[in-house]
Amino acid sequence: MFKDLNAFIDALAKERELARIQEPVSPDLEICAVTDRVSKSPGGGPALLFERPKGFDMPVAINLYGSMKRMCMSLGVPSLDSLAKEIEELTNPKMPSGMLDTLKMLPMLARLKDLMPKTVSSGPCQEVVKKNGTLDEIPILTCWPDDGGPYITLPMVFTKDPETGMRNIGTYRMQVYDARTTGMHWQRHKGGAQHYRIAERMGKRLEVAVALGADPALPFAATAPMPEGLDELLLAGFLRRERVELVKCVTVDLEVPASAQIVLEGYVEPRERRREGPFGDHTGFYSHPDDYPVFHVTCVTHRKNPIYLTTVVGIPPMEDYYLGKASERIFLPLIKKTVPEIVDMNFPAEGIFHNIVIISIDKRYPGHARKIMNSVWGLGQLMFSKAVIIVDKDIDVQNLSEVAWVVGTHIDPERDIQFMKGPVDDLEDASDLAAFGSKMGIDATRKWASEGFTRPWPKRIRTTDAAAQRADEIWARIRQGWKA
Ligand SMILES: Cc1cc2nc3c(=O)[nH]c(=O)nc-3n(C[C@H](O)[C@H](O)[C@H](O)COP(=O)(O)O)c2cc1C
Repeated sequence: MFKDLNAFIDALAKERELARIQEPVSPDLEICAVTDRVSKSPGGGPALLFERPKGFDMPVAINLYGSMKRMCMSLGVPSLDSLAKEIEELTNPKMPSGMLDTLKMLPMLARLKDLMPKTVSSGPCQEVVKKNGTLDEIPILTCWPDDGGPYITLPMVFTKDPETGMRNIGTYRMQVYDARTTGMHWQRHKGGAQHYRIAERMGKRLEVAVALGADPALPFAATAPMPEGLDELLLAGFLRRERVELVKCVTVDLEVPASAQIVLEGYVEPRERRREGPFGDHTGFYSHPDDYPVFHVTCVTHRKNPIYLTTVVGIPPMEDYYLGKASERIFLPLIKKTVPEIVDMNFPAEGIFHNIVIISIDKRYPGHARKIMNSVWGLGQLMFSKAVIIVDKDIDVQNLSEVAWVVGTHIDPERDIQFMKGPVDDLEDASDLAAFGSKMGIDATRKWASEGFTRPWPKRIRTTDAAAQRADEIWARIRQGWKA
């Protein structure tokens, strides 16, 4: 695993996964436009290090997670599925039946010791301490032409529940208003917003620390949909196979990752709101301006030569797709603990995490697909799932062509579509009201007589094994001659 962002960048360079851009490029629209172009190239293009952002001395690192290979590198695994398998084994421990079995379990159990973060006395993120520091030295990007201003797009926002002291870390964009003030775009359903709600109820200021760039498992963990009350640092510790080291902030009672590049310390005041937006969002459209809390910077600490880690969102696919994919794979075994009939799931890039959620199930009883829809709508941030498509377990949900074919052939729309009203994502533009609207479940499983379908279900066309083998041989010869 990587001890910090610098080590990750070095590894990317070694793997020829990094492009260094030495010519001056402006943080005002240009870096975003280049990154967008690169993200849309096959496989997500390389990670980018803009070494001379126009007007700044601090390099900008972007698109670091923007391919399946780099997402896996950042978490130190050969594939996201191998990581999911490790988590599944951890959550389904089998009683060892002998010495060999016990020994086999040791590496897995050893990983549990890395879960809890530990506080250390000093860290690189505080090599330079600027009480009353400003944001002026950070090359914060203005991404799209109609954006309300520059935005910090990949922050790790640390808060503590004012009543219980439980920590939350979330990635919430921050619009820069001036050198010491930003917006705090935690949406109402998120952990940071809940801490702020409690602080407001108590009439108290909420302290906030914002860490920018750290070892690469950490920014991912901040985006992960951890259940409320579960510290994202447990996930980070598990992923990085080493406890996360924290240092105490200088001006607020919070701890931040020692390996961070930059830390902004500050607070949000109860009942203070300011217009935030518009912002070219991951929906591919500008999100509407709205009122959000205001973050006041009290202190800036950083490494001697910090790198500014950021991202841009827009029309998919972009870097956030790979971060979402990692959550999809990592959380699948955990979701299966409460909904074991789920076999696989897919959040396709075009569905921007929750607009399209495809799930295959081991259908066991009549109406089972509807039960799964309701489970999904009741499960953490999966509540935002707008169109939930349920297919049988023999359908490969990762194969969108197969899914489209099955949905088209398996559904009788009036019978198989279920509408549901409930909370929707704050970025949902199509609902009549903000944050409240409808969702749709599509039951594309084969229907049973016990569900009222008494006609015979059509048999799927398949050739025999013998004919398929002949086809393989003959096709191999055709292809050879065809290419020659
Ligand atoms: C690049 C990126 C930007 C994001 N920006 C926001 C944002 O501005 N506001 C927000 O509420 N969630 C945003 N999210 C999603 C949250 O980070 C995500 O829902 C996370 O699980 C929230 O953590 P929490 O449950 O601890 O609040 C963003 C995610 C990514 C990948």
